[in-house]
Parts: sequence; C-alpha cells; structure tokens
Amino acid sequence: MAKTRTRWVCQNCGRTTPRYMGRCPGCGEWNTMVETVESSDQPKRGPSAPLRSQPRRLPEIETEGLDRYPVAMEELARVLGGGLVPGSVTLVGGDPGIGKSTLLLQASALLAQSTGHPVLYVSGEESARQIRMRADRLDITNEDLFVVTETDLEAIHHHTEEIKPHVMIIDSIQTVTCDDLSSSAGSISQVRHAATQFRGWAKSSGVAIFLVGHVTKKGSIAGPKTLEHIVDTVLYLEGERFHAYRLLRSVKNRFGATSEVGVFEMRERGLVEVPNPSEMFLAERMVNAPGSAIAVTMEGTRPLLVEIQALASHSTFGHPRRTANGVDYNRLLLISAVLSRRVGLRIFEQDVFASVVGGLQVQEPAADLAVAVAIASSVRDQPVAADMAVIGEVGLSGEVRTVSQTPSRLREAARLGFKRCLLPRSLRGTDELPTDGMTIIPVRSVAQAVEKALV
Ligand code: TYD
Ligand code: MG
Repeated sequence: MAKTRTRWVCQNCGRTTPRYMGRCPGCGEWNTMVETVESSDQPKRGPSAPLRSQPRRLPEIETEGLDRYPVAMEELARVLGGGLVPGSVTLVGGDPGIGKSTLLLQASALLAQSTGHPVLYVSGEESARQIRMRADRLDITNEDLFVVTETDLEAIHHHTEEIKPHVMIIDSIQTVTCDDLSSSAGSISQVRHAATQFRGWAKSSGVAIFLVGHVTKKGSIAGPKTLEHIVDTVLYLEGERFHAYRLLRSVKNRFGATSEVGVFEMRERGLVEVPNPSEMFLAERMVNAPGSAIAVTMEGTRPLLVEIQALASHSTFGHPRRTANGVDYNRLLLISAVLSRRVGLRIFEQDVFASVVGGLQVQEPAADLAVAVAIASSVRDQPVAADMAVIGEVGLSGEVRTVSQTPSRLREAARLGFKRCLLPRSLRGTDELPTDGMTIIPVRSVAQAVEKALV
C-alpha cells in the first residue's frame, strides 16, 4: 500500500495548504478548504516513461462487457436506462427513511439471481442481523447475496477482492471512512475520497456499484457537486411521508435518458412496482363531485393523470386565504386572480383550497387549466363531466396556452377511458393529434373552458 499524506485544497481557487485553515490564504474565501489524500510515492513520469493511454480509432474500440445486467424490476431498469451497466457507479439519494435501503436490498437479491454472480451489500448503518430480518420480511433469500457491516474503506476493498462481486451496494457513502484522512465520516473530504476510490474499482474490475447518499437539510447530497460529478448516474428516491407512493427519478445518466421516473408503492413487504401510476392516483376518485378535475401532467417522459381538487368557501375573515397542497402557491394565486377578473367568478371573498390527490407535487403549468376548472366547479357547485380530462396552461389575460408533449398526454388519457379532453386551441390545429377515440374540445380562454367542462 502506498504511503499517503493529506493536504487541504481550496475548492474555490485550488490553493493547497498542509494544515486546515478556515479561510483560504489564496482567494480569501471562507470554509473552502477540503482535505485530500495524496500519495507521496506517485511515480513522476519523465519524458521517456511509457504512456498508459493510447488514442484509437472510434470503430476499433470494443464495447463487449458493456452488455447491461438485466434488472428484474421494470421500474428500476427504466430509470437506469434499460439495465445495469457493468463498471458503472450509481448514486441513489433521498431523505432518511424514504426506502433506499429497502429498494437496494430488493434489487440486490434480484441482481444476484439474474446475473448468477455474487452481490455484496455493504452496510455501515445496520447490523447483518438487522438486514437479515429485513430480508426475511421482504421474502428475500439468495445464496449469492453477501452482507457485511463495514465502514472502513480498506476493509471493504479487502472484501471485494475476496468475494469478487459483480454488483456492490454501499449503504451509505456517508458512513465510509478512510483512515488516511483526519476529517470525520460524512465530511466532504471523506465522501469524495471514498466515492473516487469506488469509481476506480468499478472502472478497473467492472463491478457495478450503487452508492446510497442521504440528502442533507439543504436538499443536496453531502458534497453535492463533487459527488454528482464522480458518479455515472444519479437517482433520487422521493415521496411524501404520509403517502405510500415513491418516485425514483434519474437526474443524471451517462447510459440513458435523464428525467425518467419509476413509480413504486411502499407496502408491508417492501417496495412494489406500480406499472400504471395513473390508475393508482385516480383509484379513489369520486365521480360527479363538484370541485374535482383531472389533469394530465408529465413526469419525465411519462404522462400521469392526477385528480386536482378545489374547495371554495365563504371567508369568515376580511382576508380570504389561498391554500395550495401539491400545486404551486403562486400559480394558485395567479389562477384565482384570472378566475376573478377574466371569468367573473366571485372568489374575492372566498377562501380557496387546491390540492393534488395522492400527495403528488405538480409543478407543471400544464395543470393550470385543471386547477382553474376545479375551482370554478366548486364555486358554482357543478361537477366537471366525469369522462373529461383537462390540459392547458393559463395566461394572465385568461387565455389558454399550448403545452408540450400533448400527444403522449392524450394517449394516456384515452388509455384510462377518458372520452373527452379540453385542449388549448392552437393555430396549428388539432388534426395531427392522436385521438384514440377521444373527442378533443379546443378552448381559447379559461372562461370558455369553464363553460365546456361543467355539467
Ligand atoms: P429504509 O429502506 O430503511 O429507508 P432509507 O434506507 O431510505 O433510510 O425504509 C424505511 C422505511 O420504510 C421505514 O420507515 C419502514 C418502511 N418499510 C415499509 O413500510 N415496509 C417494508 O417492507 C420495509 C422494509 C420498510
Ligand atoms: Mg437506509
């Protein structure tokens, strides 16, 4: 093992110092010095030393060994870009308790089965017995699945040499420490050093590595930019505390499309895939209740139908309130103002609540029109037609604006049995749109949409 020493490197200007300093002597920035390992006996390459790299013609570079491992979990395979690439490093981030360990334990058993090679699950947070108990609860068992509780980088390396896994899970990267660094576990120096080492092993031995990362309070993974740059793929597992669904989102993927989304549900026996999320989100819908409209949003490349509910009730205070749950508060204010000024709804003395059923966050403006229609439906106490979906962005003049990816949205609505759809009337017309037996009702303004939607 090479003898190592550490230096402190400023992340802002690159100045190095032998000791920790709160303020960089180079650029004067505070808290930018990060401890970094450096080998003291790194070979200094002279002019005659042989080069290790060699440029080659593009078609001559072999791609064998890059065949993906099949992942028998369709929703995970989708966000990975169709399977797990050998030698890849995937970061799985998310709030504590959201289900990262559960997801990866399930995935490692499936991978051990499908590859027929050892999978090593390294936990720094739970004992082997705890993991075994969880596995029993999840009904997981596999001869090729190895579990170890370890936080020391050296020791983990030793285990990988011994077991030679094809897939490895590090749960979590924040617990891994290297003795050469004096900083504590979870610090930027430790996390970055460990991640760089893991990437090195992955590239040299071909083991596919999953790194679990806890999201810090600020919403970013510790050492955010450094870590995201080091790994090939970044996935986030997200969801609401009081709701069972979990979304696995890819925000970076060197081997596939980003912004793919996998949908799971947390059940008693672990995470269960949800192949038809729209059905899940519409499962408890009360047809013909006033104040409800169906929006078609996009999660990545995937259309998703969600129910928007609104309730308007007479305000007992002089200050009518607007409460948004799952929809953007400022958009709710805008839509309320448009309804009041352009549609003539008397909501200036009413409290307005709007929420997305199921706890989903809908940030897309494409859901605007559904919010507007739901509010109007509640104010007028008339339900929206049960077989109608609503798509469109609302502008300040009360106009309805076109949204992206309309064809996929329409197809999903048709697939779920919707017969009519409110759509922005665009100059290009609606002729090329797939209707799949659905009647398209083009509307130019919110006022028009409200008239067509309510029964
Ligand atoms: P966990 O995977 O430990 O979260 P993370 O690794 O992201 O911190 O999941 C913890 C939560 O999941 C815990 O609150 C209980 C719940 N859970 C279930 O509901 N069903 C299950 O089968 C399992 C294993 C966990
Ligand atoms: Mg965990």
